[in-house]
Amino acid sequence: MYVRHLSLTDFRNYATAEVALEPGPNLFVGRNGQGKTNLVESLGYLATLSSHRVSTDQALIRAGQDAAIVRARLEHDGRELLVELQLNRSAANRAQVNRAAIKPRELPRYLSTVLFAPEDLALIRGEPSTRRRFVDALLGQRSPRLLGVFSDYERVLKQRNALLKSARASGLKDAKLSTLELWNERLVELGTEIIAERLAIVEALGPFVRDAYQAVAGSEQEPTLELVLSILAERPGDDEEPGVQADAPRASGTRALPSRAELADAFRAALEKVARAERDRGITLVGPHRDDVLFRLNGLPAKGYASHGESWSFALALKLACAELLRAESSTGDPIVILDDVFAELDQGRRGRLADAVKDYEQVLITAAVYDDVPEELTAHTVRIQAGTIVEEFS
Ligand SMILES: Nc1ncnc2c1ncn2[C@@H]1O[C@H](COP(=O)(O)OP(=O)(O)O)[C@@H](O)[C@H]1O
Ligand SMILES: [Mg+2]
Repeated sequence: MYVRHLSLTDFRNYATAEVALEPGPNLFVGRNGQGKTNLVESLGYLATLSSHRVSTDQALIRAGQDAAIVRARLEHDGRELLVELQLNRSAANRAQVNRAAIKPRELPRYLSTVLFAPEDLALIRGEPSTRRRFVDALLGQRSPRLLGVFSDYERVLKQRNALLKSARASGLKDAKLSTLELWNERLVELGTEIIAERLAIVEALGPFVRDAYQAVAGSEQEPTLELVLSILAERPGDDEEPGVQADAPRASGTRALPSRAELADAFRAALEKVARAERDRGITLVGPHRDDVLFRLNGLPAKGYASHGESWSFALALKLACAELLRAESSTGDPIVILDDVFAELDQGRRGRLADAVKDYEQVLITAAVYDDVPEELTAHTVRIQAGTIVEEFS
């Protein structure tokens, strides 16, 4: 699938913009702070309902305005589709497909993007929450239904925490104890589904990450990834980060993934183990909200061991792997690959290999401050941006 035309109204620093896009590579160039990232962010948002830079919509709406509109004309297999999202400052967002209203949450069914940006280095070096978000975003793109499961889990977690907190203040009386048991069951039910989905996708991603790492780094290093589960931790609830389980818990491919029933049992057992500590601290100490994904390079945890260049290659490989996975499974064609401000950070060898890795995607959007940083094969259609305006276009 590719975007033929993008229209923005009051999105970030764009009052209005009309951008014609081509299949294949599209390069956006301009000095820093002109709106290159804003432009590609709008499409990323349309596809994922989240931004790689902010966690709320407010910053996406142009300062002083009440609403932003992102509209994209898509083409897939010769058929056109018009998708539109209105972001409202103080009301619910609204979405349309071919002018018919849909729930915004349905949008990812129509359009998929994989965006790689310097911020993604945090996948390797940052907190577990960054890695959880990464995995969940991919799951959500693959099956939007899960977005509902994630938000249900968050809601149950919040309510369970509120109950634990009030129990800490006033003691856990019988009525509260039975309410807690009800929340436990909901937590286990939703949490188990999330864990099972994450385990499966982390497993599926493995071979794609290995191939992508070798393709971009041009080296024979062996990247692996595995989910670290707080419900299986030696001392559950001890750590904010479950962290490295010292002697590699499961070499991937050598043992079957645990069944949902096994996971649910482990979850209940872990909750029992931490019951006392949870009441002391007033928070839920085990569950998918405390899990992590461990990335290793040649057996060593990437976080703390990988060099800057290796960390970059790993983060890039993770995103390319997502693109390959979505492409392999999609019924709407390739995801749109977005490379935001990436080439400046790469050496000549990696630039060329990255260009090679993305060149046969249906559409690739690239931003760069310096035109010459971008390999020539990605410059076929170039758009110059200045202060939230498209100033020049050349092919
Ligand atoms: N909601 C907003 N309203 C108005 N301007 C914004 C908004 N959000 C970001 N900007 C402006 O957009 C510019 C950054 O654009 P960006 O796309 O990140 O630049 P770059 O071209 O370097 O990628 C900044 O000048 C910032 O002030
Ligand atoms: Mg930028």
